[in-house]
Amino acid sequence: MLLLLAYMALGIFVVGFGWRVWRYANTPAPLKIPTTPAPTTTAGVTWRLFTEVAFFNSLFKGNKWTWLGGYLFHLALAVVLVRHLRYFIEPLPHLFVYVEMAGIVAGVAMVGALLFLLVRRFLVARIRFISSMADYLWLLLLLAIGITGLCMQFAARPDIIAIKSAMIGWVTLRGFVTPTDGLFILHFVLVLLMMALFPFSKLMHLGGIFFSPTRNQTDNPREVKHVNPWAESVGAGFSAKETSRG
Ligand code: HEM
Repeated sequence: MLLLLAYMALGIFVVGFGWRVWRYANTPAPLKIPTTPAPTTTAGVTWRLFTEVAFFNSLFKGNKWTWLGGYLFHLALAVVLVRHLRYFIEPLPHLFVYVEMAGIVAGVAMVGALLFLLVRRFLVARIRFISSMADYLWLLLLLAIGITGLCMQFAARPDIIAIKSAMIGWVTLRGFVTPTDGLFILHFVLVLLMMALFPFSKLMHLGGIFFSPTRNQTDNPREVKHVNPWAESVGAGFSAKETSRG
């Protein structure tokens, strides 16, 4: 049963994520709408996107507290996920010794940041007003994943060997013997739920950020004529290569 659920979730995640990214990549941007001040070269846009992804630049300019909570959560999540690679890689490179401790600290930081983000949605009237049920549920789901993970780390140690062989069997499509630890099963089922819902949710900002016209366009409408792709397809008389200077 768990095996079936695991493969269904994996399939939905991989196909759904790929399909959404394909749709983003093929959705025309009819207007030149970079948020200014914006870079005027492709190298500048690459740098802008990099700083956006690495440091959450625009959020930092917008609200320092939200930035702090959001940034801490994502940074901690990244470290936790890197540490989790040890359940999927055999033999494990020596380098992973160094993320061992960092991963545990990051787990605590991740749960702390999620609690902060949840309390913010309840307490800040302006944010409460624009929050949907999905906003709360995602925070709660991530919290449940984090808390069950921490419980395994600090209270009820699971059989890591059995978990690792199950995970390798899962991702190499060879099947697995379901581990018996109840807490792990809960942690894993919550993760599967997250994977199955991911492509249909706001978590798709992971892929979407790279296709956002306000971030990925160069501010060069005077140098290069921006042609609405829809106008091209109905034969409005100009091509994407046509440029006007000055
Ligand atoms: C199939 C994927 C996953 C597996 C097999 C898995 C398994 C585990 C296990 C066995 C532990 C206990 C750590 C230990 O005792 O060494 C753990 C901890 C934890 N997990 Fe997961 N987990 C998965 C996905 C996730 C995801 C997607 C998140 C976050 C959204 C997450 C968050 C955590 C946290 C915060 C901890 C506690 C800190 C730590 O040990 O790193 N897990 N996980």
